[in-house]
This record gives sequence, structure tokens and C-alpha cells, in this order.
Amino acid sequence: MPRASGGRRTAGGPFGLSVHAGDPARLRTPLLAVLLPSGKPVPRALAALDRVTGGGIARAVRRKDFRGNRDEAFLLYAEGRGPERVLLVGLGASPDAAALLRAATLAGRRGNAMGVERMALWAEGLEDAAIENAAVGVSLGAWEFTQFRTPPPEQERAKPLIAATVCVSRTRGAAQALGRGTAVADGQRLARHLAMLPGNVCTPSYLANEARRIGRRRRLRVTVLGRREMRHLKMGSFLAVAQGTPQDPKLIVLEYRGGRRAQAPVVLVGKGLCFDSGGISIKPADRMEWMKFDMSGAAGVLGAMEAIARMKLRINVVGLIGSTTNMPSGTAMNPGDVVRASNGKTIEIVNTDAEGRLVLADVLSYAARFKPQAVVDAATLTGAVVVALGNAATGVMGNDQGLVDEVLAACKRGGEPGWQLPQWPEYKELFKSDIADMKNAGARGAGTITAALFLAEFTDYKWAHLDIAGTAYTETDLVALPRGPTGVPVRTFVEFVRGRAR
Ligand code: BES
Ligand code: MN
Ligand code: ZN
Repeated sequence: MPRASGGRRTAGGPFGLSVHAGDPARLRTPLLAVLLPSGKPVPRALAALDRVTGGGIARAVRRKDFRGNRDEAFLLYAEGRGPERVLLVGLGASPDAAALLRAATLAGRRGNAMGVERMALWAEGLEDAAIENAAVGVSLGAWEFTQFRTPPPEQERAKPLIAATVCVSRTRGAAQALGRGTAVADGQRLARHLAMLPGNVCTPSYLANEARRIGRRRRLRVTVLGRREMRHLKMGSFLAVAQGTPQDPKLIVLEYRGGRRAQAPVVLVGKGLCFDSGGISIKPADRMEWMKFDMSGAAGVLGAMEAIARMKLRINVVGLIGSTTNMPSGTAMNPGDVVRASNGKTIEIVNTDAEGRLVLADVLSYAARFKPQAVVDAATLTGAVVVALGNAATGVMGNDQGLVDEVLAACKRGGEPGWQLPQWPEYKELFKSDIADMKNAGARGAGTITAALFLAEFTDYKWAHLDIAGTAYTETDLVALPRGPTGVPVRTFVEFVRGRAR
């Protein structure tokens, strides 16, 4: 098993964030990122900063070397005892929350690539929600996964960016905003770190131990059920997936109590397939390594629970994770097998690669015991959602339109776009079985919809579902994001819970 390399600080760890009120021209920092919209003159507040760059900012804007477009960046050097370098970063024409988050992320990524240990960030009139967004952005931009790389010799080693200061126009409320930003960003860093870990390191028991660590840190009650406990609960559907692997499957429960004693909790559920080979219905070898990310929903639950508890939100929240691996073996489930889930319903398994819904069937049934006010699950459930929506949006479905609207709004606030797909009963025809209550995979077409309708069979409460197969990780390097996990759905979960907290 690979060992963590020393030296460079691991990316799952925390990132230092602070605020500074006052003229950015006088801030001593190796790098100051200045976020500017397109089509506007240089703000007056930057007059002194422009002077220390020898008029470079105004000249770059006048000569259109820097236009302020989205994803644009332009580096200048400064004289004197303030910032050593100034990085102009474009906000685009409509500098909204999403634009700020994106520009701050790009700034953090550039800062980390430049090898500066700390940096500062300025945008005009940053207050509360915007401070939080800027802080989250720069922290996530700096994120890099280096745990398994042998560090280069000391003198050649680029320093990782480990801290950032956000320049604010007034300090009132800034510390709280920064605290919230830190909680969200660290939750997301944790989720990305866990998702990036390979299947031989991040096993179901590793996830369970991570949950226990979070529990100790944030005073959550953590309960872990293994194969034996699941047998007692007659979780025949989850156990069918787990019967092909020697690793002990885990149903992980995290309970956060920030609300009144009697208040019904929100339940967040995550699919935690530490590796999905497809099982007997095995996947093609090409790009199968990406299936280590099949636990992104679980990572999202852990990151969100960490952030929610750290923010001390006044609400009760339960996190549930169903974790195992899906392997072909002599003991594995076979196509044609019929199993019974813990809610009594029978399932004909026609494709062992449709394993996520088999795991979630029993986890969603288990959620009922918490008498939840609402349940939201996140799962890298179907390749079909990538066909339908690409990598731009999470597929959102559910059994209650009010709840679905609430989740869509949370996606939007969190900067993690979601798009609803229908749940018309006509689609249920597609997974009718000749011998059981249902089949675990539909006929051709509407794969994301039928997967969600399958899950709905195991819910008897208000429930919404996030199919994050297209949004939880990126297979291509994007401007603000490296190849790998994106941190989706941490912010959606956090925003949803925040929206329901007192
Ligand atoms: N984990 C996969 C879904 C997936 C595909 C996630 C691509 C990320 C990227 C899931 O378990 C799966 O294999 N789904 C099947 C379902 C089918 C057999 C009905 C799929 O999408 O092909
Ligand atoms: Mn699968
Ligand atoms: Zn899967």
C-alpha cells in the first residue's frame, strides 16, 4: 500500500484564511490577486496600488492586455513594501457570486502554481456572502493532491499555497463570513481528498474511520454497521453487492444535533462505492480507474457533515453512507439473481453494474427510522446523466416538487448547477420484472430517470436525489479545476441544510 510522502503539506489539510481591512497597496504579501470586471475603468480604490506597479494596472487595461474577461489573468510586478506581485483576474461582464467564486478559484490555482506560500485577494466592495465566496474560491483553487508523489529535492521544491488574506471594505461581519467560508472550503477539501484516494487506500473501513475522526473532532455520534449487522436488518439488496468482496461493507451513520431535541432531522445520503468494476457484468478496461470516484457521494456527505457541524447550524442532520466495492468473484451476485431489500421488496438483478441503486435501496429504507423532515441523496449513479447533461449540471429528481425546487435553489446558491429530470410514472414500465417486484436496470433509454424511480420505491418520506456522475469529478483539466474531484455535492448539501436551519 502506498505510503503518504512527507514534506509537502497534504491537500486534504486545512488552508489558512484571514481578512485585512485597508488599502491593498500597503499589504505586505508575495502576491495580490485583483479581481476586476470587464468593460469598467480601474476602480478608484486601486489608485495607490496602480502607483506601486508604475501605472501598470491602468496601462494593462488601457492597452487591452487585460480585459477583465472570465478566466483571464495578467501578472504585474510591484515596487515598494506592499505586494510583490499583482495578478489581475477577470470577473467577466456580470460579476455575480458564481463569477467571483470562479475568479477566486483561478487566483488560488495560479498562486499555488507560482510557488508562493501565501497570497491576498481583492475585489471591489467585498462583504459577507461575497467574502465567503472569495475565501472558498481561493482555498479550493490552491487545492492539490500530492500525497503519493515523492517530493523533489528541497531546493527545487515549489512551496504550496497554504494561506490567503481577503481584503475587505469593512471588518464588521467579516470574521463570521470568513469562518463560514473556512468551514465550507475545508469540508470541500476533505471531500476532494477522500475522492482522490485510490480504492486500495480508501476502503469502506477507511471511510468509516474517517467518519469516526470527524465525529471526534465535531462531537457527532458515529455508528458503523458491518456485514453482520446488515444481515440482522435483512438488507439483502446492499448485501448482494457486497457478497463479491472480502472487504467488510459499511453502513455509516453520523448524527449531528444542532436543533431542538424533538426536531425531525434532515438526512443526507451518499453512495460510497470505493471501486465499481461492474461485477460479473464487468465494465470495459478502458478508463475503469475512474471508478474509484464512485464514492463521491459518500465523500460529499462527510465533507458536508464536517462543515455543518463546524458552522454549528441550528438543525438536526443525519449523514448516511452505504459503502462497499463491486467486484466479480466466485461469491459475487449473478445476473438473474433475485434479492429482497429490508423494506420487503424483491429485486431481480439483471445487471450487476447497476449496483449503486441496490446499495441505496437499503440505505434509503434505513433512513425511514429517523422520521426525517427530508432526505437528500447524492450518487454517481448513472452514465446516462452524462449523456443527458454532460458535466455542466447535476441531475436532480425526487418525489416532492417543493423539495426538488428547494434543492435546485441550493445547487444554485452553492455554485453547483442542478437540472431537474422528470419522474413520470410511465417510466416505471421500463423496469418491470417477470418474476420480482422490479428489475435493477431498465430497458433502453431514460437511464437516469429509471434509476431514480427505482430509488423512489424505497422512500416513504420527502426525498430528493442528486445524480452527480457528471459533476463529481472532471476527466479533463479545466481552467479553475485540475483533473479529478470537484467537491460536488458538498456545497449543495451545505446550502440545502443552511436553508432549513433556524
Ligand atoms: N458508477 C456507475 C455510474 C457511472 C458511470 C458513474 C460513469 C460515473 C461515470 C454505476 O454504478 C453504473 O455502472 N451504472 C450503469 C447502470 C446501467 C448498468 C443500468 C451505467 O450507467 O451504465
Ligand atoms: Mn456500476
Ligand atoms: Zn457505481
